[in-house]
Amino acid sequence: MCTLHRTAAFLTSAVLAISLIASTSVSAQTAVTDRQRDKPSPDPDRIVLTWSADPSTTQSVTWRTDTTITSAVAQIVIASDGPKMADIARTDTAITERLDARNVPTKGTVSHFHSATFRDLRPDTLYAYRVGDGSRWSEWFHFRTASASKQKAFSFLYLGDAQNDILSLYSRVVREGFRHAPDMRFIIHAGDLVNDANSDWQWGEWFHAGGFIHAMVPSIPAAGNHEYRAASAAEAEAKTSSLSVYWKPQFTLPRNGVAGLEESNYWLDYENARIIVLNSNRDRESQTAWLREVLRDNPQAWTIATFHHPVFSAATERDNVALREAWKPVLEEFGVDLVLQGHDHTYARGRSDITGPTVNNVATGVNTRANATGPVYVVSVSGGKMYDAKPGGWDRFQATIERKTENTQLFQVIRVHGDTLRYEARTATGMLYDAFDLIRRDRLTNSFVERVPTDVEPRTMLSAPPYRRP
Ligand SMILES: [Fe+2]
Repeated sequence: MCTLHRTAAFLTSAVLAISLIASTSVSAQTAVTDRQRDKPSPDPDRIVLTWSADPSTTQSVTWRTDTTITSAVAQIVIASDGPKMADIARTDTAITERLDARNVPTKGTVSHFHSATFRDLRPDTLYAYRVGDGSRWSEWFHFRTASASKQKAFSFLYLGDAQNDILSLYSRVVREGFRHAPDMRFIIHAGDLVNDANSDWQWGEWFHAGGFIHAMVPSIPAAGNHEYRAASAAEAEAKTSSLSVYWKPQFTLPRNGVAGLEESNYWLDYENARIIVLNSNRDRESQTAWLREVLRDNPQAWTIATFHHPVFSAATERDNVALREAWKPVLEEFGVDLVLQGHDHTYARGRSDITGPTVNNVATGVNTRANATGPVYVVSVSGGKMYDAKPGGWDRFQATIERKTENTQLFQVIRVHGDTLRYEARTATGMLYDAFDLIRRDRLTNSFVERVPTDVEPRTMLSAPPYRRP
C-alpha cells in the first residue's frame, strides 16, 4: 500500500472510530438487569391503562405480579371525595396470563400479567379504580371516560421513540408532557418504546419512567422495529423475529386489525376522532386494504394515523419507499389529518406539496398551501438516541419539511375541539418549538394555520436547524 493509500485508510478508520464513539456516547445506556423493582412480587406493578373497546363506556387495565397471584381482581367506582370508595366499588374478575420469558435470548423471568376491562361505564365521568388480589391492592387511580358528545374539547400526547436512556432521559419528557397537559386523555406512542423487544429491564424502565401516568392516562402504542426481536433460540438461529413477548400480555388493545397482527394493528374512536394504528413492520399489503376499509367507513371529524416508520424520512438512507407507495395514496385519498411517526430520532413536520383532492381548487386561487392542506406528517423523538437530520429534506418526494430539528427531545400536545385541532411540539424543557392549527373544512381538506414561534431554538442545539416558512 502506498503512503497516500495508507494515509487515506488511516483517516477512514479514524473517522469511523470517531463516529462510532459519537454515536455510542449519545445513545449509551447501561444494562442494569438486577434492579429489585424489576422482580415481580405479589404486589401489582407495571399498571397501564389501554382501550380494547369504546373509550366512552369501557376502560381496560393491565398489571403484573409474580406467579403466587393466580386470582386477580379490579375494583371500580365513580370517584368521590370521601375515602370509603371500597365500600361501594364494583369488583371485576381479571384474566391472568402467565409469561415465561426465561428462554428468550435476553433472559427474562416468569410473571403473571392480569387484565380487566371495565364495562358499562358512564361517559365523561371520573372513575377511581384499583387492582390486586382482594387483599394486596394498588392505590386508587383516577381516569375519565370519553364524552359521548363530539363537541367536547380533549387533549392527548404524542411521543416518538423512547427506546434509549428510557429511565434517565425519556422519563423527563413524558413527565413534562403530563405537566403541560394534565388533563390529557391518552398518549400515542409511535413505536420503539424500548430498544430490545424482550428486555425485561428495559420494559421496567419504560414503566418506571411513566410511573402513575400510565395508570391514569391510557396508552395507544404502535409497534416499532425494536419491538421485533428473536423470541427464542430457534428464531435467533434462523435470524427471524416476532413481536415482543411482553406486548400482548402487558397491553390490552383492540383486536380489530388484520388477522395475525392483533393488538399491533387496530383502530378506535375517541369522541370525534378516529385513531388508526398501523404496524409498519409486517404485512403492509393486507394493512393497506384494511386501512382503506377503516377510512371508507369513517364518520369522525378527525382522523389520526400512527405508525413507526415514516412516510417521509428526514434521512436519505432511511427512506421507506414501499411503505410510502402503499400507504401515502390512501392517507391522502381519504383526507387523514395527522400522521404521527417515529424511527428517525429527529424532529420533522411537513406536508405534501400537492394533495390530490385539492388540485381542482388551485385554479381558483382559493386553495393555497396556507389555507388548504391534506395530511400533516410528523416524525418525533422522546428518548436519548439522536440521529442527524440529513440535508435535502423531502423535496424529492414532492413534499416540504416546514419545521425540523435534531439533538432535541420533544413531546407533542394535540388539542381537539370541535372543528379545530391545535398541535404543539415542545422540547424536553417545555419550550414551544412547533405549532399549527388545522380547521376542518370538509372531509378532505383543512385550513392550515402556521403558528411556529419565530424566535426560539432549542438550547441543546449543536447547530441551527434549517427553517423556512411555507
Ligand atoms: Fe425504529
